[in-house]
Amino acid sequence: MDEFHYRGGVLHCEDVPLHEIARGAGTPAYVYSYAALERAYREVEEAFSGLDHLVCFAVKANGNLAVLRALASLGAGADIVSGGELYRAMRAGFDPKKVVFAGVGKTEQELKAGLGERILMFNVESAGELEHLERLAHLHGKRARVALRINPGVDPGTHEHISTGNVESKFGIPADEALSLAERAKGFRCVDLIGVHQHIGSQIVKVAPYVESVERSAALVDELRSRGFDIRYLNIGGGLGIRYRDEETPSPAELVEAIRPTLAASGAKILCEMGRYIAGPAGALLTGVLYRKRSGERSFIVADAGMNDLIRPSLYGAYHEVLPLDEGADQTRADLVGPVCESGDFLARDRDLPDAREGDVLAVMNAGAYGFSMASNYNSRPRPAEVLVREDRWAVVREREHYPDLIRGELVPAFL
Ligand code: LLP
Repeated sequence: MDEFHYRGGVLHCEDVPLHEIARGAGTPAYVYSYAALERAYREVEEAFSGLDHLVCFAVKANGNLAVLRALASLGAGADIVSGGELYRAMRAGFDPKKVVFAGVGKTEQELKAGLGERILMFNVESAGELEHLERLAHLHGKRARVALRINPGVDPGTHEHISTGNVESKFGIPADEALSLAERAKGFRCVDLIGVHQHIGSQIVKVAPYVESVERSAALVDELRSRGFDIRYLNIGGGLGIRYRDEETPSPAELVEAIRPTLAASGAKILCEMGRYIAGPAGALLTGVLYRKRSGERSFIVADAGMNDLIRPSLYGAYHEVLPLDEGADQTRADLVGPVCESGDFLARDRDLPDAREGDVLAVMNAGAYGFSMASNYNSRPRPAEVLVREDRWAVVREREHYPDLIRGELVPAFL
């Protein structure tokens, strides 16, 4: 069942009419469904059954504490990319033994924090980072468990901004350098090389790039083992796509079936780092219609949410379905735009949209991943509220920002 559905002609999230949330929490507001998060998480989890595995949630997709707590309670691990995400993950209650830390630019402070929490492993992306880890672990009397993030040189066939596994990408270690780096790590006293990691991109809608890259990663696992390394983990990254419009996306089960023989033969514990698949369909952005206007041939629906609240359409030309709260609204050809002072500020462009009037509320769908987590205060706009729904209950899980939040930390110096 889709957790966002019409019942009695009114769009609901689980058992709560979205009108009620729009009235109670105001707009714009992100609304997340607990049931949708749980369902998607379990779907990924069950796809790997029969294999020793851990499903990590990519915190960057949605870092809300309540969302994270829900997933941690279901048994998920966390994939983090910054000290800030480590902080969130710990506050949300993730077991540090289920936390993996990726990212090309981890600072000394971030590495230290990860060592301090004794996280499961660092996905190391460069020789310099490995050296830093060795030094810091030695200094603080810790051991650093490490996976080498390799760049498998595979084109995931997705938007270039979110494609990470091709040869020219800044991410990962080129496959031909991984072995020499591993050999160097042999001389390190405080680093345990225990895994191989890959992540080839995001919103991937085909299994073929996974098949190819996982084969390469698994071959590296074998090679490293033959050189005496105790490689126990193979991390296949995240990236599984969702249906925003009409994409034919593989299910987690289809993905895992395609790579299962390779995963099983590796004998390693399998990690994955899904973000979008788990959180994307679990969220919608509610936005109130402020005005209707025309300009030449073009018709505009001006809403109270803009690119600062949901940047995906502006940044990637991404498509998000737009639904009326009351079923059966007439359609009109229009742009759904926000109040931000940029021509690139739109949530939908030249589309058949609900013919909404001033005061109506629209739901921008599939906004649970990379929605709020990429929101900004551009144009000094307070960021929206976030709401979590569970059956017939709902709660604000992040308050709408207020004006004082906008200037928090700003100082006017004495010389003015
Ligand atoms: N692991 C690593 C190392 C990653 O870099 C990412 C995403 C993930 C896992 C999770 O990928 P997912 O399963 O969510 O596709 N802002 C873009 C997406 C950027 C993804 C960056 N890395 C968007 O809105 O489409």
